Amino acid sequence: MTQAPKNLQTIETHILALQSMHPSASGDFTGLLSDITFAAKIISREVNKAGLVDILGAAGGENVQGEVIQKLDDYGNNVFMKCLGTRNQVCIMGSEEMADPVFIEPSSGTGNYIVVFDPLDGSSNIDANVSVGTIFGIWKRKSRRDKVGMDDLLQAGCEQVAAGYIIYGSSTMFVYTAGHGAHGFTLDPSIGEFLLSHENITTPFLGDIYSVNEAYEPSWEPAVKEVVRQMKYGTGTESSRTDEATEGAGKTSRYIGSLVADFHRNLLYGGVYLYPPTKGKPEGKLRLMCEAAPLAMIAEAAGGYASDGRQNIMDIVPTHLHMRVPLYIGSRGDVMLVEKIIADAKTGL
Ligand code: AHG
Ligand code: MN
Ligand code: MN
Repeated sequence: MTQAPKNLQTIETHILALQSMHPSASGDFTGLLSDITFAAKIISREVNKAGLVDILGAAGGENVQGEVIQKLDDYGNNVFMKCLGTRNQVCIMGSEEMADPVFIEPSSGTGNYIVVFDPLDGSSNIDANVSVGTIFGIWKRKSRRDKVGMDDLLQAGCEQVAAGYIIYGSSTMFVYTAGHGAHGFTLDPSIGEFLLSHENITTPFLGDIYSVNEAYEPSWEPAVKEVVRQMKYGTGTESSRTDEATEGAGKTSRYIGSLVADFHRNLLYGGVYLYPPTKGKPEGKLRLMCEAAPLAMIAEAAGGYASDGRQNIMDIVPTHLHMRVPLYIGSRGDVMLVEKIIADAKTGL
């Protein structure tokens, strides 16, 4: 007897199923996720043909963070700006690539949502055909529509109504949470749809992987050196390590240098991604609103956790759009251990 095939679910049908639990929902949110999905398909197409056309290399300028802008960064930013809010559901857009947030004039739409995004994450990897991504966080406005201001933009991660990322890898995947689990969809290019492939992603409590740019070790504070030492050697001492005796006592290392790709792998396999402060970047490198907070929401939805080393990333209220934070994110037990080592170092334990 042949079994009836499982119903195929796209992101839209998945969200519509969620929406049916909220009969008063206007459909604006579903529409917004559809807009993001559409933008993701366009960026995916462009990323996939990056080796074929003259789009490689830097665009020749620097963004507000003083980093070289790649052509695809510009492109991804423009695509997002054009695709979002087709039904005027958005009141503020903020991008890693734009110095200032864009406030949308009140019009016929509700303008209920604030979207902050990193259109192309890991863009320095593009020329080498290494996975890159897009990250987004969505908040709801608190003020009256005609009074929307910076307070509506500068909300903590725990106020997000949804967050997600797209990874442009060997296939393109869209992972999102709207507060009810983290779900992954894989793009089937032949039909141009993201289909549900990873329902209710859960990440292991402890992982076997740590991901950090270890070249910065000389400029880490001692507590961070201790964190990474314990990742490597377990709680044993370096001198007690002989390859055969202690192989497996610590974790293995994986670092791509594309946050989305490193995070995604660790989410599926279990592990922790670390971007600690350095002497040159005492606040860390990664941006709270367009990188850390959205990924923290996904991590929590999957049973993981994100910290700046002292507190939950989700509790940090941004002081400005481009605020940076140290980031420790992934398996809950591993990130809690990082917090403990840092706290112990502070109290001299
Ligand atoms: P972006 O490409 O959006 O500027 O982000 C780059 C980030 C992140 O993707 C990655 O994990 C990190 O920078 C790598 O930094 P290092 O090269 O300092 O390790
Ligand atoms: Mn980034
Ligand atoms: Mn970027």
